[in-house]
Amino acid sequence: MGYSLNTTDNYHINNLTSLGWELTVCNALYPENSPCRSVLQTKNSFGIQLYRYLEKLIPLKKIHNILEIGGGLGYLMRDFLSLNRRLKATMLDISPYLLKKQKENLQEFDVVFLENDILPIKINALAPFDLVIMNENLGDLPTLVAHTEENIEHAEELACYLEKATYFSEKYNLPFKEEENINIGAMEVLEKLCHGGIKYIYLSEHSCETIVPERLKPYINIESSEIPEKIPLKGHDEYTIKFSYLQKIAKMFHYKIKRGQIADFLPLDFNSKVLTALRLVTPFTSEQEIIRQFVYDLYKYEYMVMIKMEK
Ligand SMILES: C[S@@+](CC[C@H](N)C(=O)[O-])C[C@H]1O[C@@H](n2cnc3c(N)ncnc32)[C@H](O)[C@@H]1O
Repeated sequence: MGYSLNTTDNYHINNLTSLGWELTVCNALYPENSPCRSVLQTKNSFGIQLYRYLEKLIPLKKIHNILEIGGGLGYLMRDFLSLNRRLKATMLDISPYLLKKQKENLQEFDVVFLENDILPIKINALAPFDLVIMNENLGDLPTLVAHTEENIEHAEELACYLEKATYFSEKYNLPFKEEENINIGAMEVLEKLCHGGIKYIYLSEHSCETIVPERLKPYINIESSEIPEKIPLKGHDEYTIKFSYLQKIAKMFHYKIKRGQIADFLPLDFNSKVLTALRLVTPFTSEQEIIRQFVYDLYKYEYMVMIKMEK
């Protein structure tokens, strides 16, 4: 058994010229007339609903410095800043194209923009932040992909990441199986945030461990292999995230963790429109297709809110 390395940095730096190909939950909910809003109990944008949820867990009114890593079009942060003018926001993104979009969408606010890859960022550069948000981007970070044969491409980088995998396995007692793909970049970034002593962290991404609630099992089929799964996208591949490993890492750093599916803060309005769309084997309309994908995402995406406990 060998590994290859899946990376997306080249795509994000050089080839990304639209997020339209990757309709994130945040972007899908942003337009006021989005059909996705009609399937939720609260018909509001993603950022507003996430903020309202987080403020029940975190004293958001007392927080000053917030960092969003990989903020896409900047809609989540626009919602946060419109609800809390005291927040001092920094947006860090690897993509020059998306950073430009963020600047346009956040121009009415006083925001710092950093064009950087999160992976080489030094721990002490993170220290000033009280809250760090990473929404739908952990799957973009490097993944070790298990193969039956040894792969000689990017040999040096691969060897370095394999060494890191051994370190994570031993330090955090992560029992990687032979055939398992490893979210090595996500682990590295989370460890860095924990080392940086960030008091509050929010992460969310496609999960390989999620389970559909019993009442929805007749309507939604979600495979959860418990091994990070490949998601082929335009110009790059992503991998689903094994949140139980991230949970173990954060626990070692004494974080209290709330983990769940994003449907926790985007509760589904199980109305007749939703039921009809979910019951169809083949959707009749594009709206029904959008609704089916959106409802699937509500349960396929997991989140973790992490709160650093005082010693
Ligand atoms: C799928 S988009 C998600 C955007 C947004 N958070 C949302 O939910 O709509 C992934 C984002 O992560 C950024 N990204 C990917 N790899 C990154 C890296 N290594 N460092 C910093 N940002 C990265 C991308 O440029 C993009 O903004």
